[in-house]
Amino acid sequence: MKGTTPAGARSEQEAATWVRAMFGRVAPRYDLANHLLSFNIDRLWRARTVRRVQPILERPGARALDICCGTGDLVMALQRACRTPVLGSDFCHPMLVAARAKVARQHAASLLFESDALRLPLRDGALDLVTVAFGFRNLANYEDGLREMRRVLRPGGMAAILEFSQPPGAVFGALYGFYSRRILPWIGGVLTGSRDAYLYLPESIRKFPAAPRLAEDMRRAGLTSVSYERFTGGSVALHVGAVA
Ligand SMILES: C[S@@+](CC[C@H](N)C(=O)[O-])C[C@H]1O[C@@H](n2cnc3c(N)ncnc32)[C@H](O)[C@@H]1O
Repeated sequence: MKGTTPAGARSEQEAATWVRAMFGRVAPRYDLANHLLSFNIDRLWRARTVRRVQPILERPGARALDICCGTGDLVMALQRACRTPVLGSDFCHPMLVAARAKVARQHAASLLFESDALRLPLRDGALDLVTVAFGFRNLANYEDGLREMRRVLRPGGMAAILEFSQPPGAVFGALYGFYSRRILPWIGGVLTGSRDAYLYLPESIRKFPAAPRLAEDMRRAGLTSVSYERFTGGSVALHVGAVA
């Protein structure tokens, strides 16, 4: 299990550099493209994620971090359910600029910082909750990503990964394949001017571990009580795991 492999990248360093630059290019129109291409269902997926982690957010003094936070939609959704400031981090500066503007507009208490999810500037066991939405698939090394999530969680903490997945059903899978390979790159390209980003998207989903395999990888990384639920025909899955 390595990580994402954009075309032309020959090392983990090159993969990460490509991913950061690509998100930098789409950042100004990322939200628009996201909501249009998912028919706004992405809001629902994030809402269900918040509902799943709510017991952790309700703990007094809960410390939650959303890694690969992008423009901050999950940070904001988590913040609405949490009394303490929710942290958000990303390694792409233009995405964080958009997230900062959103936090300011909504007068939220959330705190954002620039960081690689594979090397978080946090001590071991610092957090109750680590979430990641549609960012994990882009990591250059999934094993390192899981290890880092596990490292910063304290006993009783929870990790939650919301990510695209491969629909298990043949009919929906075929329809989804057609949409993601043919329609999505075209519309995404028009909306953001970066067709390569929306060619990379279906390819990275195709190469990403299927839901049962990701659950197994989470267990191997030391997370317990790992479970997952599928949304929207299995095109998206939410995995959660705890720290014993
Ligand atoms: C598809 S966007 C998802 C953004 C947001 N979480 C959402 O739900 O819309 C993926 C994000 O992951 C970030 N990312 C990818 N690899 C990263 C890494 N190694 N460290 C930090 N951020 C990373 C990208 O910069 C990008 O903002």
